[in-house]
Amino acid sequence: MSIDTVSSQRLREAMVDQLVADHEAKGLVMRPEVEAALRVVPRELYTPGVPLVEAYRSDSAVITKKRGDETVSSVSAPWLIAEMLDQAVDALDGGLAGRHVLEIGSGGYNASLLRELVGPSGSVTTVDIDPEVTERAVACLAAAGYSDVTVVCADAEQPVTSDRRFDLIIVTVGAWDVPPAWIAQLAEGGVLVAPVRTFGMTRSWALRRDGDRLVSSSDRLCGFVAMQGAGAHEVRYVDIAPGVHLRLDEGQQVDATSVGGLLALPREQAWAGASLPPRTVLADLDLWLAARLRDEVNEVVVLTAQQDAVDAGVVAPAWRFGTPAALHGGTFVYRSALRWSGDVFDVGACAHGPDAAVWAARMVAQMRAWVDAGEPSAVLSVLPAGTPDGDVPAGTVLDKRHSRMVLTFTPA
Ligand SMILES: C[S@@+](CC[C@H](N)C(=O)[O-])C[C@H]1O[C@@H](n2cnc3c(N)ncnc32)[C@H](O)[C@@H]1O
Repeated sequence: MSIDTVSSQRLREAMVDQLVADHEAKGLVMRPEVEAALRVVPRELYTPGVPLVEAYRSDSAVITKKRGDETVSSVSAPWLIAEMLDQAVDALDGGLAGRHVLEIGSGGYNASLLRELVGPSGSVTTVDIDPEVTERAVACLAAAGYSDVTVVCADAEQPVTSDRRFDLIIVTVGAWDVPPAWIAQLAEGGVLVAPVRTFGMTRSWALRRDGDRLVSSSDRLCGFVAMQGAGAHEVRYVDIAPGVHLRLDEGQQVDATSVGGLLALPREQAWAGASLPPRTVLADLDLWLAARLRDEVNEVVVLTAQQDAVDAGVVAPAWRFGTPAALHGGTFVYRSALRWSGDVFDVGACAHGPDAAVWAARMVAQMRAWVDAGEPSAVLSVLPAGTPDGDVPAGTVLDKRHSRMVLTFTPA
């Protein structure tokens, strides 16, 4: 065995040990078959030219293609790949062995893990819109010895094959909507695992097909490069201070000059008065806040910030990559960084503007309501566009191009 092979194996074992520990810290359990696959597939063969240590970082993606400043392709971060594969195994009764899987967004690494999971009687097809990516995936898969993965170059907004149904479609690119082709290509009872943006916040949803609709069984916080092609969806950013931005959804209108000076106004801080344990999943709280505030405020937006702006105290968001925020009548309010007291924490809100105290109090009242309701998880239902209101389950409805999405919350 060469020194490189030995260090690759050693780094791979260390990466998986770290992933297992991170899962535990989040209150998750990694599926044994997912762990076994991660221990086998040589990730460095999908990241040529990248130092071994970088290839085996558990917490970061390896960027493989940029267009200007924008990342358009990457080998996804191992923690995220592992969590999405767990979601798939959990959602498919009996796991992945013998299943037929379509992966949307290629690279080769995840396809190899899927190949390990489905075994000899299953199949894996992977599709990417970019011929450079599919060519590289074919070469990397061959180098790693996975010659039985079908690689297709196409826009996955449209059906990849006309005559096949898959048990699992796993999407590894950020989507705003669920195109009809994804549902049509799923077997009845099949599962779609896809990063879908609702209220500007992306979660990986595991969704099971039931006729013409999908209903989720789990969601995980995540971030992905954006879909290209016919399903591309515009995301705009408005700068509100150096290094501080609002992320806007398609169709949202925010006047940059009127919000530009808001952060210079005094900050009002309010707390929910909760004592939450470290493993509380706040990704669901953020969706709850967006859904509850939508009917009360002019705009629900997402606050993002550079680390420098956070360090300088310009903003104190809960998560600098995407925190729910709202604009209403010249007041700006967002979920703030946690306040720890021993080994429990409280959640709070910061607000600036004429009605800062009122809106900080309203936002924490919604946080309190979430805690009092038993910290419910979000459930996403996806129905065809045009479904009459009477056939839509009770909840917060988001109308997209192809679908009506409904968010409901069920106690954990
Ligand atoms: C994060 S990468 C995929 C990572 C990969 N699954 C892995 O094994 O690490 C996302 C990919 O989605 C592709 N993509 C973007 N829009 C697409 C579309 N409409 N159809 C198919 N692929 C698309 C991009 O070209 C990019 O290569």
